[in-house]
Amino acid sequence: MCGIIGYTGRQPAKDILIDGLARLEYRGYDSAGIALLNDDDTLTIRKKAGRVDDLRKLCQDQEYTSTCGIGHTRWATHGGVTDINAHPHKCGNVALIHNGIIENYYDIIREYGLEEKLVSETDTEVVAALLDKLYEGDPIRTIRNAVKLIAGSFALCIMFADHPGIIYAVRNVSPMVAACGEQGSIIASDLTAVISFSREYFVVPEYHILTLSRDGIQVEDLKGNVVVPKNLEITWDIEAAQKGGFPHFMLKEIYEQPDALRNTITPRIVNSLPDFTEDGIDDAVFANCENVTVVACGTAMHAGIVGKAMIESELKIPVNVEIASEFRYKKPLINEKTLVIVTSQSGETIDTLEALRLAKSCGSKVLSIVNVKGSTIARESDYVLYTHAGPEIAVASTKAYSVQMAAMYLIGCRMALVKGIYTEEQAKEFVVKLQQAIPVIEQTLKQADQIKEVANYIKLAPDAFFIGRGMDYTLSLEGALKLKEISYVHAEAYAAGELKHGTIALITENVPVIALATQKNIYGKMISNIREVKARGAYVILISMDEAVNDSTICNKHIRIPEQEDLFTVFATAVILQLIAYYTSDAKGLDVDKPRNLAKSVTVE
Ligand code: AGP
Repeated sequence: MCGIIGYTGRQPAKDILIDGLARLEYRGYDSAGIALLNDDDTLTIRKKAGRVDDLRKLCQDQEYTSTCGIGHTRWATHGGVTDINAHPHKCGNVALIHNGIIENYYDIIREYGLEEKLVSETDTEVVAALLDKLYEGDPIRTIRNAVKLIAGSFALCIMFADHPGIIYAVRNVSPMVAACGEQGSIIASDLTAVISFSREYFVVPEYHILTLSRDGIQVEDLKGNVVVPKNLEITWDIEAAQKGGFPHFMLKEIYEQPDALRNTITPRIVNSLPDFTEDGIDDAVFANCENVTVVACGTAMHAGIVGKAMIESELKIPVNVEIASEFRYKKPLINEKTLVIVTSQSGETIDTLEALRLAKSCGSKVLSIVNVKGSTIARESDYVLYTHAGPEIAVASTKAYSVQMAAMYLIGCRMALVKGIYTEEQAKEFVVKLQQAIPVIEQTLKQADQIKEVANYIKLAPDAFFIGRGMDYTLSLEGALKLKEISYVHAEAYAAGELKHGTIALITENVPVIALATQKNIYGKMISNIREVKARGAYVILISMDEAVNDSTICNKHIRIPEQEDLFTVFATAVILQLIAYYTSDAKGLDVDKPRNLAKSVTVE
């Protein structure tokens, strides 16, 4: 998704903006640019398709002394990847950058006769043209009028040529955070661009107009009332947001999982029982719910599917898992007796956010599991269970997945206790087993070299299959997504017992099949399915708790996970699947942290 940064202060802005854009690269983009507001009331725009480094080279052509500017990394939504479509866009007196989608840009073009003003294919330039058309010398009044006319999601940073040193900003849905310090004032899409500037920040409130100057930031609502937003503290340091010595953010984040789980689980264990008092989640939320609906996207949705398996098997309460982009256009079968759990690492995924809003309109209570504090989904939920995984920079979600599963397990255990399905003893036993996932993951990570070997095989394959039964099937969904999204090997997850109903036709000589057989209760059945694919020439990588498997009719490679109860194997299995994907992508020399076409947070539909 697009990255936004704005700075005004006492330092030259150019390098601050470009360095900030470099920190936002992980959000996914295809072009970059900056606009500088000069003291002589002129606007300088430097932008191009390509990487931030290309922009840095472009800006070496002269000395830029301006101390006020905006910068943008664009993830194309309207219009191709071209220099002209890159942001910032300038129209007359106005320069701006935008993250989001203006849904009625075409109506605005016609209604305000803007055709002649436009040179790009973007919806963003229409906003610049509209502002320029409405501008009569008062920026805030102009922005207030324009905001009432545009529909859709937007995070806008705007400069007016005749107001040197000032940046204006306004948002709806798309994220923005802001901070002011000795160096001046800064605004950005997320904290990774702010952290080197200030440890205190605030979330830009929606439909409020910000005026950033070198001396501070004024925030006012659309009626002109001045508002003082609550300051939050950045709880992680810049080191945490960097690679910490690992070759990629993804590998660092895979290895951070024991700490991420510890930081997420431990604060919620009081007297050996799950306890959400500190989170402000009272037991009534669980006592009153008759069914659960989980709504999320991608990996977060996969974590929800694992949560479903746990809650249904332990509590016998129906759990429906919905893909957010589907759910939001349904007439959902939920009501005030439904607990809707919304899961999101970024807390900004637009489909998940809109699904949350729909769920609330149906009278359901919404409990969100979110990693980014103060994010939009967190702020719009009735209850929030923050996962304390720290910043997840790699596009491929890893530690967020593990802590989301742990959060679902804690919720399931608390619900079972509240509903009298678990005795206190049973709940305490459950908590002990959940906490044992932490040393188990540490043990599993020691097998990284063995997993690397497996990846060297898979990297040559055009296709791969992940098969499993029960809990293992839910994990295979995540394993397939991980491999696809960072190694570009086409992968498919399949319920092992279903293979013979068609898909086994695709199993030919040497096709890699990652077979998950960690569930004791269906182990025998699973081995039979594995033999079926092995008999057809598959290259089988078996993941199980067996001490060792050297039977060539079952597998080519065996990766062992430590002995645990079926329900708790998901954490070790997840780590192995993540490492398989990571090493395959790395062996192919791909951009592991920033895979093609993908963004870390999908804030457009
Ligand atoms: C995960 O590896 C993917 N990059 C993607 O599926 C992600 O999980 C999904 O976009 C949801 O993001 P969120 O958790 O920030 O809402």
